[in-house]
Amino acid sequence: MGKVDVLLGLQWGDEGKGKIVDVLTPEYDVIARFQGGPNAGHTLEFNGIKHVLHIIPSGIFHEEKKNVIGNGVLIDPYIFAKEIEHLKRRNVDATKNLYISKKAHLILPSHRMLDAANEQAKGSAKIGSTLKGIGPAYTDKIARSGLRVGDILEFDFKEKYELQKFQHVQLSKTLKFDVAKFRIDDMTLEEYENQWFESLETLKAFQLINSEYFLNDCLNKGMKVLAEGAQGSMLDIDFGSYPFVTSSSTVTAGVCTGLGVAPSKIGRVMGITKAYCTRVGAGPFPTELFDNDGEELRQRGNEFGSTTGRPRRCGWIDIPALKYACMLNGVTDLFVTKIDVLNEFDEVKVCEKYTIDGKASEEIPFEFNSVEILPQYNKYKGWKCDLKGTSSFDKLPENLQSYLKTLENLIGVPVKAISISPDRKDVLFR
Ligand code: GDP
Ligand code: IMO
Ligand code: MG
Repeated sequence: MGKVDVLLGLQWGDEGKGKIVDVLTPEYDVIARFQGGPNAGHTLEFNGIKHVLHIIPSGIFHEEKKNVIGNGVLIDPYIFAKEIEHLKRRNVDATKNLYISKKAHLILPSHRMLDAANEQAKGSAKIGSTLKGIGPAYTDKIARSGLRVGDILEFDFKEKYELQKFQHVQLSKTLKFDVAKFRIDDMTLEEYENQWFESLETLKAFQLINSEYFLNDCLNKGMKVLAEGAQGSMLDIDFGSYPFVTSSSTVTAGVCTGLGVAPSKIGRVMGITKAYCTRVGAGPFPTELFDNDGEELRQRGNEFGSTTGRPRRCGWIDIPALKYACMLNGVTDLFVTKIDVLNEFDEVKVCEKYTIDGKASEEIPFEFNSVEILPQYNKYKGWKCDLKGTSSFDKLPENLQSYLKTLENLIGVPVKAISISPDRKDVLFR
């Protein structure tokens, strides 16, 4: 019986999940996305070319592997069609090895408008959403009024669509949103809608399936499945810094509901963390830096959003947050990415505890958003050298080896591999 291994982000997203999935794909038969949608931006680099995937699993460049978009994912057909087009230009024909759950919910153009209306209504309390319609589409799913991929094959789809759109437009107006002025990629709602309907034809060309049966069949045949997370644990709807979160379960538990696999089928859980920390959008970030070090992390790490291009907020690695994420996910293997970004620092800081209300704490408090959290740092000597060409773990500079040992001792999970450049070939396994 095969297992579902899980790979997910332990921070606020953008940990380098796409890259690691691509590197691990040869070991698996199936790669499956279980939550999130086009708010994700997963970057892969090989042969000098960079690809950014939003909805399509990061195993897609391996022709012989199956890729599944699970029921827990949200699909915007327009963005999906654009991604397919992009792949075609790179000679990747995804129609052969991409399977899509009929139960995955659709993001309607008016969901995107409602996302913008909600953010505008929140004013200074806005989440900093990617504005891809994630919150409103998951809201409709939970309210039992959403439309699913399988519905596009039904004769009354347009009718159901119009009803949904009407409600979204009414709600946007109630929120004092100027519907006529709303634009997506310079298109009015109606122009975008036309493109969206055209894109349904692209979607129909794919294998639309009951992915829970498909995946369990694969497992019964002894195949290995890798579940690819989007966002990160600190953006989880339940355990993240609510309300500054996304609207899905980004933790391991989300794999079971987002793919239809039983908890007993879960195998290893690989947690990805950067060697430092970033966040894009609003919300608490205890180790955020506003100084030169923060700017250096942003420039050296090229910390600008893969989906929105926004500059990412940067700071030192946060151990209490990582321990929390490992606890929630049952992480068995740690992957530390973007180590090279720290190459030139004289010293590297690690937040090992917080001080909250004058007391030392290692926990994420309920009042995460409102209470003052002072990070308690320990300093470690930098390794001060280029890591290019390093071929194995034991050839890493001593200071880096001891930094990694510190991380695994503090977090309590062994480091399985590290990444030292954006390229596929620069992952060192232990
Ligand atoms: P994801 O959303 O978790 O897949 O991560 P993103 O793709 O949004 O952001 C990670 C960024 O870091 C991308 O631009 C990657 O190309 C880049 N990256 C990944 N691993 C490394 C690494 O080890 N070193 C450096 N310098 N960049 C990396
Ligand atoms: P990947 O998969 C980083 C953030 C947004 C915002 C909040 C809610 O590339 O790691 P949403 O659009 O979901 O309503 O936004 O979550 N966010 C991400 N940040 N990486 C992501 O995905 C993200 N997806 C959403 O910036 O703060
Ligand atoms: Mg990303």
